[in-house]
Amino acid sequence: MRRAIVAAAFALLAFGGPAAADDYPSHPITMVVPFSAGGPTDALARILGKFMESKLGKSIVIENVTGAAGSIGVARVVHAAPDGYTVSIGHLGTHVANGAVYKLGYDLLTDLEPVVLLPSNPMIIVTKNAVPAKSLKELVDWIKAKPVPPTAGTAGAGSGSHIAGIYLENLTGVKLQFVPYRGTAPAMNDLIAGQIDLMVDQLSNSIAQVRAGTIRGYAVTDTARAQSAPDIPTADEAGLKGFHMTLWSGLWVPKGTPKDIVAKLNAAAVAAMNDPGVRKQLENQGLQVPPADKLSPEALGTWQKAEIAKWWPMIKAAHVEVK
Ligand code: MLT
Repeated sequence: MRRAIVAAAFALLAFGGPAAADDYPSHPITMVVPFSAGGPTDALARILGKFMESKLGKSIVIENVTGAAGSIGVARVVHAAPDGYTVSIGHLGTHVANGAVYKLGYDLLTDLEPVVLLPSNPMIIVTKNAVPAKSLKELVDWIKAKPVPPTAGTAGAGSGSHIAGIYLENLTGVKLQFVPYRGTAPAMNDLIAGQIDLMVDQLSNSIAQVRAGTIRGYAVTDTARAQSAPDIPTADEAGLKGFHMTLWSGLWVPKGTPKDIVAKLNAAAVAAMNDPGVRKQLENQGLQVPPADKLSPEALGTWQKAEIAKWWPMIKAAHVEVK
């Protein structure tokens, strides 16, 4: 009997059950991007994922699972096996705001393990080129003078672009008519084509179009100008004091994923953010890498909790309607 138990224990050790970190990863990892391909979350996943592959020695397959402001893609990871092969990339919208907007069927803090905080970027107020306003003040006046609220593209109720739009409404007293998309990539296409009026978008998504002159940029929601867009004033400089919002991103895995697997993913992502070539690509899009002391899994958990406490009251007070 004793022999059988010892043999079973050895067998378990040898095959490691579902969670042996020694041979992790032994096959490709799926990173679930909860928004459309070509948008800011997708771009970040692809830049970091490419470098992480070289560290981990296996491919990282990007899967775009879109809808409901990213909450469907996050659910896909929550319900995946806790073995490190399904990773959630998300941000302030998906992993904070969505909990205040939707009945998610999962708990953002207790059903996922934090892996690492990823780069952040401010938001930028952008419009289609046909909008006549030449400054943020003129834009606010233009919105106020319109008989019906202008259309503002978002990645869904509770997404980063939506929260930023509500924040703009709260600070200026304007009213916007939000138009939900499956990500800000398709919203951007419609903005360039003049199908919608404006967006409060992540700088990383808008910067190339502002530089190319296909849309108009008015102000960034940071305390200092972005190095990647030095001509665009901060909201403070443009007369809208206190419009500060930085959209941070992160990686998570299902609850119960072994700590050593979390540590391997964390180390690969940190190495990616420290690589000079990767950093250059990130900075060119206006993304800022978090400081070294914010890069542990525990630091992301603490940060996420603090962000929930900060943002949920404002989002709940705005009575965000889910259509
Ligand atoms: C995206 O990748 O489409 C964005 O992160 C969406 C958003 O939250 O605004």
